[in-house]
Amino acid sequence: MRIDIITVEPDLIKSPFENSMMKRAIEKGLAEVHFHNLREYGFGNYRQVDDYQFGGGAGMVLMIEPIAKCINKLQSERTYDEIIYMTPDAKTLNQATANTLSLQENIIILTGHYKGVDQRVRDKFVTKEISIGDYVLTGGELAAAVLCDAVIRLIPGVLGDETSALTDSFQDNLLSPPVYTRPSEYEGMKVPEVLLSGNFPKIEEWRSEQAYKRTKEIRPDLLD
Ligand code: ADE
Repeated sequence: MRIDIITVEPDLIKSPFENSMMKRAIEKGLAEVHFHNLREYGFGNYRQVDDYQFGGGAGMVLMIEPIAKCINKLQSERTYDEIIYMTPDAKTLNQATANTLSLQENIIILTGHYKGVDQRVRDKFVTKEISIGDYVLTGGELAAAVLCDAVIRLIPGVLGDETSALTDSFQDNLLSPPVYTRPSEYEGMKVPEVLLSGNFPKIEEWRSEQAYKRTKEIRPDLLD
């Protein structure tokens, strides 16, 4: 999978890709991530990429021309399955979207900044808009890193234990059940007996019950 990220803050977004799971995925050749500094497509000596909004109001808006130049260049080199715009005014990212995106070959992620991008960018180029939650970040860079993490870990071969992504919370619309490791007793707090029983059908049954119970308590909306 190839991901091209368009941003005005490339340094802000790079470090998650230089560590841990995403680094390993890139080293294994399972994911390729390229960063494009929008300023390189900006106007004049100052490489201007934004301007005041028509109609007045605080905050700058990213202009269409630099973004169009960058996207057109990328599209002249390969076909993209999705052009994603990270923005708080969109549907919230969920596991189903991450699953679908993990099957794509080439995607562009455009990150907003300031007041966001000129609406015509969204109308002309963007095929999918994603928010990572109902709060406003300073820019879409961290949101793009979150999306990439959620997607890249699902690419077959990225996680050492192939089954572990499948048992994550949300993979089946339920939160994860509680987990325990050694010691089996800590200051009188005991690990549930069933987990020490070696009876795997019973353990599975317990885990399912716990997952359901947790979901009902914390996120009943997931059961609707
Ligand atoms: N940019 C700013 N806030 C965001 C959010 N919550 N999700 C995605 N992109 C954003």
